[in-house]
Amino acid sequence: MATTKGCRTASGIVLTIAVAVGAAPLEGQSAQPGPLPGAPGYKAPVISDTGALPGPRQPIFFRHDIHAGQDQIPCMYCHSTVAVSSEPGIPALRTCIGCHQIIGGSTPSHQAEIAKVRKAWSDRQPPEWIRVYWVPGFVRFSHMRHIKVLGTGSDSCANCHGQVNGMAQVGQAFTLKMGWCIGCHVEREVIRGRDCSVCHY
Ligand code: HEC
Ligand code: HEC
Ligand code: HEC
Ligand code: HEC
Ligand code: HEC
Repeated sequence: MATTKGCRTASGIVLTIAVAVGAAPLEGQSAQPGPLPGAPGYKAPVISDTGALPGPRQPIFFRHDIHAGQDQIPCMYCHSTVAVSSEPGIPALRTCIGCHQIIGGSTPSHQAEIAKVRKAWSDRQPPEWIRVYWVPGFVRFSHMRHIKVLGTGSDSCANCHGQVNGMAQVGQAFTLKMGWCIGCHVEREVIRGRDCSVCHY
């Protein structure tokens, strides 16, 4: 039954998403019906107004809702260092070009953005991605420690970054304030979780 409804309202879905994005631009995700991002059958929305999206505008319009949401590429495929270093890092162009030497894009707007990826590669000019998340230098934070306990799946990342696989453009889901960190440490009974020296040098 749900499937029938999904088909019948397929054209309405795009509309719903456009409205949801406009109404709640800080969410960066929408409660559309049908499969959730990352699940089989999820279809990333068509976006006409990129200006309304949360988060900084990046040099290439790279969409997590397409890569991680629709095509279900695991977060770790691109952010592999998350489990072994304190810095997850942004993937090098080499990671992109493996696919995009072949995949040119199915719509004119995708083709235009993928052309930028190819040009950046042939010019050896990696895009200067704008950083979204950071903590001040006097704060100690290690992804590795967290991932070990919370896991490497997108649900683990969602604890601190929101549902990135549903985001067309990454914006801050959480502000990373001290109280937020401590809140989770207390909730999960992290040993010495409130102790100043855990997070401060
Ligand atoms: C195909 C490669 C790819 C996949 C898969 C991918 N990402 Fe990304 N991610 C990127 C690129 C490129 C950027 C930098 C551009 C941007 O911010 O959108 C980025 C940026 C981010 C950022 C913002 C970093 C910052 O602070 O600037 C977060 C958070 C993030 N990704 C989380 C995730 C999560 C969670 C998943 C899985 C649900 C995921 N990514 C899957 C390539 C990928
Ligand atoms: C595992 C394969 C794979 C990898 C790795 C990959 N992509 Fe893609 N990418 C795709 C597919 C599939 C599409 C959808 C193509 C379509 O239907 O238009 C796509 C679409 C795109 C688009 C157009 C849609 C959008 O997101 O705005 C851009 C731009 C893009 N990719 C950039 C990148 C960048 C930058 C990287 C590296 C950080 C990357 N891709 C890594 C498979 C990949
Ligand atoms: C416990 C909270 C937490 C979890 C879980 C978490 N992150 Fe982060 N992430 C952060 C914080 C805090 C920062 C900023 C770190 C800094 O400034 O050093 C960050 C920064 C990032 C960045 C940007 C850093 C860079 O090197 O450019 C990426 C990409 C990222 N996270 C991806 C992920 C992915 C992928 C996952 C899941 C596998 C994940 N994160 C899980 C809290 C978290
Ligand atoms: C979603 C829950 C969650 C959030 C949010 C979170 N943490 Fe944690 N953190 C944990 C857990 C669980 C551990 C315990 C990991 C272990 O047992 O090794 C931990 C451990 C740590 C440790 C290592 C503790 C030690 O004993 O050395 C540091 C440092 C830390 N977190 C810093 C931060 C900072 C800074 C933030 C906010 C920017 C933050 N955490 C946000 C869950 C969280
Ligand atoms: C779980 C990690 C964590 C613990 C434990 C922690 N802090 Fe913080 N602290 C942070 C983060 C993250 C920030 C930066 C974000 C912010 O200002 O809220 C911060 C910022 C601060 C600042 C700067 C505030 C400002 O307005 O610039 C001070 C001062 C501070 N902490 C003192 C303490 C003291 C004192 C303790 C112990 C009672 C403590 N912190 C325990 C994570 C932590």
